Amino acid sequence: MSKLAFIGLGVMGFPMAGHLVARGGHEVTVYNRSRAKAEAWVSKHGGRMAETPAKAAEGASIVFSCVGDDPDLREVTLGANGAFQKMAKGAIFVDHTTASAKLARELAAEAKKRGFEFLDAPVSGGQAGAENGQLTVMVGGDPAAFERAKPVISHFAKAVTLMGGSGAGQLTKMVNQICIAGLLQGLSEGLNFALKAGLDAKLALDVISKGAAQSWQMENRGKTMVDDKFDFGFAVDWMRKDLRICFETAKENGAQLPITQLVAGYYDDVSKTGGGRWDTSSLIRRLRRA
Ligand SMILES: NC(=O)c1ccc[n+]([C@@H]2O[C@H](COP(=O)([O-])OP(=O)(O)OC[C@H]3O[C@@H](n4cnc5c(N)ncnc54)[C@H](OP(=O)(O)O)[C@@H]3O)[C@@H](O)[C@H]2O)c1
Repeated sequence: MSKLAFIGLGVMGFPMAGHLVARGGHEVTVYNRSRAKAEAWVSKHGGRMAETPAKAAEGASIVFSCVGDDPDLREVTLGANGAFQKMAKGAIFVDHTTASAKLARELAAEAKKRGFEFLDAPVSGGQAGAENGQLTVMVGGDPAAFERAKPVISHFAKAVTLMGGSGAGQLTKMVNQICIAGLLQGLSEGLNFALKAGLDAKLALDVISKGAAQSWQMENRGKTMVDDKFDFGFAVDWMRKDLRICFETAKENGAQLPITQLVAGYYDDVSKTGGGRWDTSSLIRRLRRA
């Protein structure tokens, strides 16, 4: 049993931290900015809640975080009450936020200076993956720290892979989001075409999902797209944030992202019409309402 801390009990962090107790039997101290979620977590899982990220980190061998964007991650690590103020020497900070590779490298360098390790470890698998403990985790950072953290991360993951040095986890997550954006627009266009053509779109999905067009999105989102249901899943505004990070990185490495740029504009449209919290498969609404 280890002493652990978890910062950020949102849609993802709440169940992930829960698995550390339920599956790992670890002693977990949690911090959440709005206190009610931390109270709810402690009443469900036991453990302790801390008043600040720094207090949560005190004495922990591994500190996890899963917050929103770069500025949030910066605040819970380097801020006046940030976890980095109190990290123990030799401890590991594992960040599950989808954030920039640049910040991951900065935090890893800062952690090394202070005598502990930082791993960037964004996740894929969504809310259901977090709740079922079946996330895919892509990690960047020191190999020895990775080997120590991997069995603990595995309490909420089906796959945990070291992709390279600091930032490599975040870069891999960017690849994931680039692949999803274009695919979802294709799926939206196909399903909208099926509906306009008067086909039974769900039957069409059953048939083509057994062939070369098959994808996770088709299997898991196709039918809800036909039903025009989007009040679940991975929010459009999170995707817009993730794609912004991809474009900033592509500017540095010279990669062309023409389709992803187009789809990002479509996501801006969806957000402007009130869909910021809808699932990313809501791209089809733009087409159906056109
Ligand atoms: N949801 C998904 O399906 C999914 C899938 C893969 C990756 N992700 C990524 O995982 C991360 C978290 O997503 P989520 O869906 O769990 O989001 P969420 O439900 O909005 O939770 C965000 C968490 O971060 C905390 N937070 C945000 N800014 C903060 C700050 N400045 N200081 C302290 N705490 C702060 C929030 O605290 P409060 O409770 O006080 O607001 C909350 O606990 C994001 O980077 C997202 O892109 C999400």
